[in-house]
Parts: sequence; C-alpha cells; structure tokens
Amino acid sequence: MGRLDNKVAVITGGASGMGRAIGLRFVREGAAVVLADLNERGGAEVVRECAAAGGRAVFQRTDVTLESDLRDAVARAVGEFGRLDIMVNNAGVGGALGRLEEIPLEEWERTQAVLLRSVFLGMKHAIPELRRCGGGSIISTASIAGISGDFGPHPYSAAKAGVINLTRSAAAELACDRIRVNAIAPGGIKTPMFVGGGGFGQDDATIEANMARLQPIARAGRPEDIAAMALFLASDESEWITGTVMVVDGGALVAHKNAISAASTGRGYAGPSFERR
Ligand SMILES: NC(=O)c1ccc[n+]([C@@H]2O[C@H](COP(=O)([O-])OP(=O)(O)OC[C@H]3O[C@@H](n4cnc5c(N)ncnc54)[C@H](O)[C@@H]3O)[C@@H](O)[C@H]2O)c1
Repeated sequence: MGRLDNKVAVITGGASGMGRAIGLRFVREGAAVVLADLNERGGAEVVRECAAAGGRAVFQRTDVTLESDLRDAVARAVGEFGRLDIMVNNAGVGGALGRLEEIPLEEWERTQAVLLRSVFLGMKHAIPELRRCGGGSIISTASIAGISGDFGPHPYSAAKAGVINLTRSAAAELACDRIRVNAIAPGGIKTPMFVGGGGFGQDDATIEANMARLQPIARAGRPEDIAAMALFLASDESEWITGTVMVVDGGALVAHKNAISAASTGRGYAGPSFERR
C-alpha cells in the first residue's frame, strides 16, 4: 500500500530539482503525476525515471505564467488519469537580481509572474477539480526568503512572501470544501537553480561542503528533504493541517550563518535553470 494510492497530482516545475524529487516520491507512493514544466528534455527524462520506478507519469509542456497552460495542465490530469487530488505549485526561477534601485520594472513583473501569479493560476484551475473529487491538497513551494529579509533577491523574497499569505487566505476559503492549502519554505537546496550560478563551486564535493556551512545542520539540503514534506502534506496523514508554512531548512532560519543578501546576488535576470547551464 502506498501513501498516495489512487491519487493524481499535477507538479509544476516537475522536470528538475525539487519537482523531479516530488514526482518520483509521489509515484513510488502510488500516485499518478503530470509533470508540468517548460523544460521538455528534463521532463521526458523524469517521465522515464518514474516509469522505471513502476509509476505513472506524463509530461505536459507548461509555462506557468500563462493561464491557458495551467488550465491545460489540470485538464491533462483529468483527461489522462480521471481526477485531480493534489496540486503542487513549485516552478520557479531566481528572477531579477541586484539592488532595488537598479531593478527594471519589467523584470520585477516577470519575476512576480513566474513565482506568484503562477501560484494563483495553479490554485484557480485546480480548485474546481479538487472540489469535484470531494477535496484535496494544494502545496506551494515558497522559501525561507519569504519569511526573513536576507535570503534572496528582493523580487523573489516579495513573491515568496506573497505565496505564503495566499496560502493562508486560500486555506481559510477552501476548508469547507475539504481542500487543504499549505506551503513549504525550503532553505538552500542543492538543485540546478541554487547551484547553477556557480557561487558554491563547480564540483560536487565543493558545492556540498559550501552548502553544509549555510545552516546549523551541517549538510547540503536535498530535493528529497522537500519531497518528504510534500508527501506528508499530500497524504491523508495531514488531513487536519491547512494554512501552514512548513519550514524545511536545516535550521537556517533560526541560526543562519551565511545569509544570501539581496544585494549580493549579482545582477541581471536568472531565468529557468535549464537555460542557464
Ligand atoms: N533550491 C533552493 O535552494 C530553493 C530554496 C527555496 C525555494 N526554492 C523554490 O523551489 C522551487 C523549485 O526550484 P528548484 O530549486 O527545484 O529549481 P530547478 O531549477 O531545479 O527547478 C525549477 C523548475 O521550474 C521550471 N520553470 C521555470 N520557469 C518556468 C515557467 N515559466 N513555467 C514552467 N516551468 C518553469 C524550470 O524549468 C525547472 O524545471 C522554486 O519555486 C524555487 O523558487 C528553491
């Protein structure tokens, strides 16, 4: 028996990093998943990995800034697997970097579209299908940058704070439909997005050693750490939990050693990780 038997999930950003790990964990626990991402090659690879694990997964090319694409991703879940129980709003980018006074307005707007508007759109289109199934779970990937002021670029931090409070207000509205809404706030997790800029080193051992120094629990955060929390929030074991933000950060928030300050994150715009390699 799996912890997600007979459940169907859409996972945005499912082609890489945490989304990939969530997809693999979910199918191993019996769910069928739609991996919704811009990254077609990565998505096809994760579909293969899910199949090799004995799971059911399909890829749906999705730009989470587009309402029609999110509508289609939800429709794909229903068309392919007959229902929707779990919506994971996880796709993300670093977005606009640098000092506030230097950020172009259009890059601010682009960052909000990928990180916050997308979560609204994911919720909006998932809700009717979740309600039709008698309830469900919406999980959005926020960040400790949405809780504290010194963990990421300004537009990123603002968007993630927005994700956290949208989670709370949505939870209040949707509890009567047995739809639970929660967010996960990861610390530094070793994914292409986080290490892609090269700031933590080039080889695996150096990256691990540098990331181990970011928080009291002295190892790099892993996508699997986030997948474990997503599994709990997706499963019926968390049926009395809604409107929360689950911090998964090795203790970074309570005792961070090397905060990544907004001003020290470089300049320009950090787009999807697969385009930056
Ligand atoms: N890695 C970290 O340390 C960290 C910490 C806190 C929060 N997060 C958040 O976790 C989530 C997952 O990030 P990750 O670290 O696994 O990075 P990742 O780059 O490995 O995965 C993100 C995925 O989102 C996809 N994506 C980007 N823009 C998209 C768009 N417009 N439409 C559809 N897909 C798009 C990318 O192609 C990629 O597959 C993001 O929301 C990120 O902000 C990451």
